[in-house]
Amino acid sequence: MSLSLKSSNPNLVETRADIPRHVAIVMDGNGRWAKKRFMPRFFGHKAGVDSLVKTVLACADRGIDYLTVYAFSSENWKRPTEEVTGLMGLVLVAVAKYLTKLADKGVRIVIVGDRNQVSDKLRQAWEQAESLTKDNTRITLSVCFNYGGRWDIVQAARAAMQAGVKPEELDETKLASFMSLAHAPDPDLFIRTGGELRVSNFLLWQAAYSEFVFTDCLWPDFGEAELDAALASFARRDRRFGGVKDAPAASLQSA
Ligand code: FPP
Repeated sequence: MSLSLKSSNPNLVETRADIPRHVAIVMDGNGRWAKKRFMPRFFGHKAGVDSLVKTVLACADRGIDYLTVYAFSSENWKRPTEEVTGLMGLVLVAVAKYLTKLADKGVRIVIVGDRNQVSDKLRQAWEQAESLTKDNTRITLSVCFNYGGRWDIVQAARAAMQAGVKPEELDETKLASFMSLAHAPDPDLFIRTGGELRVSNFLLWQAAYSEFVFTDCLWPDFGEAELDAALASFARRDRRFGGVKDAPAASLQSA
């Protein structure tokens, strides 16, 4: 694995094997963070947006090329109407407050998820965020909204069928080309804040060989120190992708 570490001097490209190219985050714990402060859950989500903006810039500074975050899952519709409406409204507030800053800092924003169920206003805000930042190259922030890993696999299978892909032509590479994160390599590092030890239907296909870091830190408290701790843990991992280190791969015929 050889990865490039960006520098303020564009001509200087160092090679670093220990920095993940793609980090994915389940930003959990906003509700508990607010509760600890005797505030409504929405207050936690609002603080979560600030944490997200800080994190994407910190990732860019560390040479990470892709950050993918779980902002609203296909299952989050089960939450109280007030909270769902609040999260939808928060997207509009976040775009108004931070879009120019992120665009100026070289962040490309991509929204991933089922856009059919959301309001026209929200769709327009996403389109604005995507079109304003489409030529940026410093880091790609994929915001998964109304997203689920199972939804993604199903929509990819449907899209492949609609494109006329024949069953015998379908393999992992072909199906991956129809997945909603086809613009990014698979995540190297998968972080979940908030203390829960589960994947919650996030990146089921793409996280097949991700390294996992679970932290008790609640998302609004996540900052550079927690990011660096996760990166340090990642740097210590021995990634084998199902193989054996320093041993030649067997061929199918030798089985
Ligand atoms: C999980 O915490 C968090 C969410 C369901 C929402 C995450 C959203 C943000 C951080 C805001 C990002 C928004 C935009 C506009 C990109 P939880 O509510 O499940 O917390 P809990 O486990 O403590 O109850």
